Amino acid sequence: MTLHVAILISGRGSNMAALVTACTQPDFPAEIVCVISNNADAPGLEKAQTAGIATAVVDHQNFEARDDFDAALDEKLRQMGADFICYAGFMRLLGADFIGKWRGRMLNIHPSLLPAYPGLNTHQRVLDDRADITGCTVHFVSEEMDTGPIVTQAQVPVKPGDDAETLAARVLEAEHKLYPWALRKVAEEHG
Ligand code: GRF
Repeated sequence: MTLHVAILISGRGSNMAALVTACTQPDFPAEIVCVISNNADAPGLEKAQTAGIATAVVDHQNFEARDDFDAALDEKLRQMGADFICYAGFMRLLGADFIGKWRGRMLNIHPSLLPAYPGLNTHQRVLDDRADITGCTVHFVSEEMDTGPIVTQAQVPVKPGDDAETLAARVLEAEHKLYPWALRKVAEEHG
């Protein structure tokens, strides 16, 4: 069975692009049905359009209540024919109702070896701790940010002279390999 995946973004969309490319492989057990952003200016939207993927914006600023945003997003996902969600740099926390409806059908990628360094400013915190190894994690989304069952992780070395930018770039390269691999694994298990 092929998963019909919606990718949620808020910004650049490089992980989104990696997933879109992976899904063009003929034997890939998932297809990207749409890219949805909460931010109309997300550069990833144009990348998706160039790749021929349907896009939509559900702007959180248009909703007074969090639940109303969640409901509009849920409706858009169903309209677009999605049965699975990949967060890819999506910067909104969704409520318990939404999470409950999609539980087990939502993946996120985070640029650390969770449970270490959840949240923002990951790379600077890794450097401040003088850690030797960092990495990235693909996990199922649950109510708490950057928690939820881990699908897979990749380790990335911290190198002498790294700053947050060089380290982020090295981790991002690993993310672009790990996320398609994880989606394939989960899709095969669903199938
Ligand atoms: C990535 O580092 C991802 O792990 C984190 O946000 C960043 C998004 O980058 N959640 P991009 O938009 O996929 O380029």
